[in-house]
Amino acid sequence: MKRLAILTSGGDAPGMNTVIRAIFNKASREAVEIVGIQYGFLGILCKNFVSLEAEKVNDAIAAGGTILYSSRFPEFIEENVQLEAIQILREENIDGLIVIGGKGSQEGAAALTRLDFPTIGVPATIDNDIPATETTVGFDTAVNTIVTALDKTRDTANSHVRTFVIEIKGRRSGDLALWAGVAGGADFIVIPEQTANMTQIADKIKHSIERKKKHCLIVLAEKVMSASELTTRLKEEGILHIRQIALGHVPRGGTPSPFDRVWASKFGSAAVQFFLNEQFGCCLCVQQNQLVAVPFEEALAKQNNRIDLSLTLLNASISY
Ligand code: F6P
Repeated sequence: MKRLAILTSGGDAPGMNTVIRAIFNKASREAVEIVGIQYGFLGILCKNFVSLEAEKVNDAIAAGGTILYSSRFPEFIEENVQLEAIQILREENIDGLIVIGGKGSQEGAAALTRLDFPTIGVPATIDNDIPATETTVGFDTAVNTIVTALDKTRDTANSHVRTFVIEIKGRRSGDLALWAGVAGGADFIVIPEQTANMTQIADKIKHSIERKKKHCLIVLAEKVMSASELTTRLKEEGILHIRQIALGHVPRGGTPSPFDRVWASKFGSAAVQFFLNEQFGCCLCVQQNQLVAVPFEEALAKQNNRIDLSLTLLNASISY
């Protein structure tokens, strides 16, 4: 019986458990043994190999987080650590590895591929920061969570005629802020992919208040600056009725949306099929709504970034 190992790595994302379930169920049908590795790449080095139980895996379809646990393990960037991991995987008779995670995790998977270990990547992160894919498992759920938060924030902003700066995670990508900002009716979306002019933003806010607009929501991607820094800068520009919120890790939790569950199921099942076909060295991606396998180097290349900046044009900055 072939042995296929799976791990979840980096920041957890809603739907990771659904990927695990899909892998497990497809593998069971194909008589492939699934070996779970707890706590991501670190778990290989610590030899945290576990077997999965059908009941636990299937019950987890609606659960946020990851039943395999995750970790940050920056040391995995070093080749000697990667080689040690491969040696352990070989000692455990592992025939292939599926890495479920975001960009950093797929970089780890790419490194194992370069060192000739059969690896397949499944994109799962709220950040949607893997350049070659239109979506990652967890992104849609996180967008939904943030939009709920924005709608609630608008209520209180309206009551007090206030401006709110809402800081959103996303690592180096502004895609989460962009989608949530558009869907949540943000008046401004500040992301690393575009430059923002504070004076211009402040002038527009003042103008809108003069015209009796009651609220202003500014969605800010974390890597541009912090919510408190942006708030301070806008205060310096004369915007005094202003508050700040950092949503932090909240959008990483919660039950995955149906959209994330469907893609998670497709990715999980396809990953096992790629293993059976001995097609390794690629990250599964969504392109034009189709599941495709993209070689790691290409999947991670900056120039293949599929962020849709035309969405920023939909963000009507206070026109009444
Ligand atoms: O990758 C997911 C993410 O939540 C990013 O959006 C954020 O920059 C980072 O993880 C936070 O990392 P940590 O979980 O280590 O605090």
